Amino acid sequence: MAMAGCNRIAILTSGGDAPGMNAAIRAAALVGRSLGAEMFGVERGYRGLLEDAIAPLQPAEVAGILREGGTILGSARCKEFHQREVRDRARAILAGRGIDGLVVIGGNGSLTGALKLADPDELSGGAPLKVVGVPASIDNDLALTGLSIGVDTAMNTIVEACDKIADTATAHDRTFIVEVMGRDCGYLAMTSAIAVGADLALFPEAGKPESEIVDRIVDTVLTVRARGRRARRVIIVKAEGVSIPIDRLKALVDERLREKAPDADPAGIETRVTVLGHVVRGGRPSAFDRLLGSRLANVAVRALRAGTSHKMAAWLPPVELPEEIAARSPADPYCWLVDLSAVLAETENLLSGRSPLARWRAGAFDAIEDALLL
Ligand code: F6P
Repeated sequence: MAMAGCNRIAILTSGGDAPGMNAAIRAAALVGRSLGAEMFGVERGYRGLLEDAIAPLQPAEVAGILREGGTILGSARCKEFHQREVRDRARAILAGRGIDGLVVIGGNGSLTGALKLADPDELSGGAPLKVVGVPASIDNDLALTGLSIGVDTAMNTIVEACDKIADTATAHDRTFIVEVMGRDCGYLAMTSAIAVGADLALFPEAGKPESEIVDRIVDTVLTVRARGRRARRVIIVKAEGVSIPIDRLKALVDERLREKAPDADPAGIETRVTVLGHVVRGGRPSAFDRLLGSRLANVAVRALRAGTSHKMAAWLPPVELPEEIAARSPADPYCWLVDLSAVLAETENLLSGRSPLARWRAGAFDAIEDALLL
C-alpha cells in the first residue's frame, strides 16, 4: 500500500524483549533522521503509547546501545490493546503528536496489534497511520521470515549453557533434560539441539503424547548408556511448549528407567533437569543479531518514508512468496517487505503445525533422531 511518505515516525518495542532490539532502534532512528523524518521513541510498548510516553529520539540517545541486550525503550505486554476503544485512544495520541508512521519491533502479538492499529476500517474519519513491523522474538515463531531478531543470540546462549552441562554430564555419565524458552514454537529447541549435538529434542510441533515422549527418552538413555565409556551422557533439549511440566517428566522417566534397568545404580541413572528460563532472553546481542536488527529496521523505516504500510520487513523468507504479498526490499537484497496480514495468517499455520514448513521441521527431526539412535 503506497501513499505519501511519513514525516514523523515513532519506534516502539513490544512483547518479550529480544537481543538485537536496540540495534533495530538505533538503525531506525538514524536512518529515519538521515531521510529527513522526525523520529520518536515510545516507552514500554503499547502500554506506554496509551500513557503518551513518547519522546524525540536523538542520535545521542541511541549512541552505544547497539551492544546492549533488552531494549532501551522498554517493553510490555498490553492485553487491553485487543479492544477497539483502546486502539482508538492510541491513534488519537499519535495523531495529536502529528505522528504518521510507526515501526513496531516485536513478535506475533505485537505485530497483530500493529496491523489493527493501522486497519483502514478503524481509521475511518481519523488521521491516517502507517505501520511497518520488524520481527523480533527469540521464539522464531513468526512466519515468512527466515529469522527474527534475537534468535541467534538465544541459540548461542543455549549452546553455551548446554556445552557446560555436557561437561558435568559426561563426567558423571548423567542424563540431563534442559528446558528452553520458545513459547509454543520448538524452533529454539530443535536448532540448539543440533548445534549442541544433543541426543533428543522435544518440541510441541511433534504432537507426541506423554507416554510416547517418555518411551522415546527412556529408549535414548538406554541406547546411549549401552555404548562405551565417554559416550554415556545424554543431553535432551525440551522446548517449554511441550506441555508436560519438567518435574513430572523427570519423575515419569526415572520411574520407567528403574523398571527397565533394575540393575543400574538408581543414583547414576536418574535424570537431572535444568530450566534455562529467562537467561535465554538476555545478554549482549550476537554480531548477527546486531546486523539483522540494523538491516531490518533500515528496510522498515525506508518503507515508511516511501509511504508503504501494513508490511513486515522479513529476512530471507523460508518459502517462495507470491508477488501479491511480498516484494524484495529495494534497500537490501536479503530483505523482503511482506504483507503483515499474510505473516500473521501463516504464523497461525506454523504454530498449529499445518504449514509445510512446520511439517518439514518435524519430519527433519524425526530423521535426525532416528540417525542418532542407530
Ligand atoms: O516470547 C518470548 C518469551 O520469552 C517466550 O519464549 C516465553 O514463553 C515468554 O516470552 C515468557 O514471557 P514472560 O517474560 O512474560 O514471562
